[in-house]
Amino acid sequence: MKKIMIIDGGPRKTFNTASMLQKFAEGASSVSSQIEVKTVRLYGLDYKGCMSCMACKIKGKASNVCKFKDLLTPVLEEIAQADGLVLGSPIYFGDVTGQMRTFLERLAFPWLSYNDYSMTAPKRMPVLLVETMNGLPERNNSQGYGSMEYCITAALGEPEHLIAYNTYQVKNYNNFELGGFSEEAKRKYRDEHWEQDLQKAYDAGKRMAEKILG
Ligand SMILES: Cc1cc2nc3c(=O)[nH]c(=O)nc-3n(C[C@H](O)[C@H](O)[C@H](O)COP(=O)(O)O)c2cc1C
Repeated sequence: MKKIMIIDGGPRKTFNTASMLQKFAEGASSVSSQIEVKTVRLYGLDYKGCMSCMACKIKGKASNVCKFKDLLTPVLEEIAQADGLVLGSPIYFGDVTGQMRTFLERLAFPWLSYNDYSMTAPKRMPVLLVETMNGLPERNNSQGYGSMEYCITAALGEPEHLIAYNTYQVKNYNNFELGGFSEEAKRKYRDEHWEQDLQKAYDAGKRMAEKILG
């Protein structure tokens, strides 16, 4: 069996980010029964960011998997052994969510060597970075995964990207103070793009599974 880990960094269980990740999972699973897909919802876990405990850097016992013990530890250990990784997050104030960033601190700090500043994960693997946002391709404030993307690229390999723009933030715009958005324009964009975005997620799942199976 080969395993793909999906890390959902959004709070909403059935909205845009979760839907994109679900489609990815369907695409990956469709390729072969040899592909196992596991989704972890960060908002369902009680965990901290890097505690700066330096346990991963102890002389003679250095580790490239986080040693701090909380509910994230088994997830980080599972990722270390996985064959593919998908990270998904809505964009909040131009960045991935705080939960995603906090997770990434725990994932990446043990990769970093302070001896030679190299970044080494236990295993390299295909990676997909997913973002969903209000912004448009030509007008958005997203820094995406920001500086963490460098760490991911160095330690795991060059990631693929998938972005869903101009998403529906609520089901019914009439019920909320969201006057800056035209629901009509949102609907038009969604009608033209959302199914394609989901299809792109499905195809990315297939592509990653096929790559893993060689
Ligand atoms: C706290 C918060 C901050 C947001 N900041 C941005 C932003 O800076 N740029 C943007 O394009 N969208 C922003 N959005 C919109 C979300 O990124 C967008 O609705 C996303 O698709 C939500 O994902 P979800 O449906 O999976 O929850 C923000 C939403 C929230 C709740």
